[in-house]
Amino acid sequence: MHESVLDVIGGTPLIRLGRVGAGLPAPVYLKAEFLNPGMSVKDRAALAMVLAAEKSGGLRPGGTIVESTSGNTGIGLAIVAARRGYQCIAVLPDKTSPDKIAVLRAYGARVVLTPAALPAEHPEHVRNLAQTISMRTPGGWLADQYDNPANPQAHVEATGPEIWEQTQGRVTHFVAGIGTGGTITGTARYLKQASAGSVRVIGADPHSSVYGGGDGSPYAVEAVGHYLHPETARDVWPLSYDEALVDRVERIGDRESITTVHRLAREEGLLVGGSSGTAVAAALRVARDAAPSDLVVVIAPDSGRGYLSRYFNDEWLLAMGFQDGAPDTPVLGDLAAAAGAPLAIALPATAIEALAVVASRGSGLEDGLALVVLNRTGGDETWAVPDVAGVLPLAELRALPDDEPLGPYLRPLPSTAGSGEAIAEADARLDPDQRWIPVLHDGRIAAVVARSDLARSHLAVAAAVPGIEEVR
Ligand SMILES: Cc1ncc(COP(=O)(O)O)c(C=O)c1O
Repeated sequence: MHESVLDVIGGTPLIRLGRVGAGLPAPVYLKAEFLNPGMSVKDRAALAMVLAAEKSGGLRPGGTIVESTSGNTGIGLAIVAARRGYQCIAVLPDKTSPDKIAVLRAYGARVVLTPAALPAEHPEHVRNLAQTISMRTPGGWLADQYDNPANPQAHVEATGPEIWEQTQGRVTHFVAGIGTGGTITGTARYLKQASAGSVRVIGADPHSSVYGGGDGSPYAVEAVGHYLHPETARDVWPLSYDEALVDRVERIGDRESITTVHRLAREEGLLVGGSSGTAVAAALRVARDAAPSDLVVVIAPDSGRGYLSRYFNDEWLLAMGFQDGAPDTPVLGDLAAAAGAPLAIALPATAIEALAVVASRGSGLEDGLALVVLNRTGGDETWAVPDVAGVLPLAELRALPDDEPLGPYLRPLPSTAGSGEAIAEADARLDPDQRWIPVLHDGRIAAVVARSDLARSHLAVAAAVPGIEEVR
């Protein structure tokens, strides 16, 4: 019996991955954070930040909790606010899934939406807007999970000791994703200290995230990693993340994360979110190189219930190029392989720079070719087709003055198709007037194929689709 829902935050079980981890030298145990009341690890940080702010006087009775959050932290704060009698305002990127917004509102939180694709310096960027709202709201308090020491401290005080006690000090490797860094930093700090430095700490990072050394371009897995906005002047990492406590970072591609969540659901009966797939994929690599006396613990931050329309939805997987087609059906990936990587340029760019890209490939300006224009914005909950701002018919470039920026001339991205889609089905589905089709493979544009090629599609199943090659 518990006095309130807040008393059942934390204390999550460790569950052995007996099937997914079968045959590996060391056992892998998953810390089931989706069993928290708000279904994620972030309940811990939310409660700890509020309690610390009550103690310091930053948050007063009847006050308003404000945070920029794309989901789980907002849900945790909304739960704590409901039980402890505060208002809660969540500032979210405008493309956040309606389901997540509905959950926040169900707990009584107010939701403020702001455009997703803004550089960090912009006053309406989620974090800046949340700060402004917290200052203008009487009794407002900004939780600020990225820089709030109570976030990692929650894991020093609870997650770390839980793992140490549950494994009776036998844990040798700890694996977690890095979002704000609170979970890995706080847990590592405790485990390193308790084991006199012997526990190895491994970060699990989406392949293109900068924490693991990626280029900062967007990726499909939500709520972990760190991407770069092209107009952000200075890349700032959260204070909640202490890199010095992490021995190494494993970089995991989106496809591997997604395959891993499918295996966890179907082989272990564990329905978890994409970042759990990233973390478990890394943990399996760690266990592969470990000794039988070792014990690997991996954090599963949230439930798969929030992602049923994505990682567990065949239509989404096929449309994003995460699913292969049937072996003997001609698929768009065949045409994409033949077309090769599209001409591409990143914003900001001018007409003359775009023309230089075209020339560097020895291409002409024939009408019908398209230049893919990349805009490295993404957004963790807003991710649809990373990188791509739109397309520009090459013939139009000729008409632009040399120093003219490309941005205003962009055409919206035409409907995309996945590399595993059957050619005939894609042809029937897409608007007959659409002349080029950007083909996605593993969530990225692998090629732009001409519509006319769909009709002449007797190609054999091709080898792997080449990745996009950015010229500039
Ligand atoms: C689903 C999910 N995975 C991983 C993380 C990363 O946790 P942390 O912010 O403690 O690094 C978060 C944080 O919001 C999350 O929501």
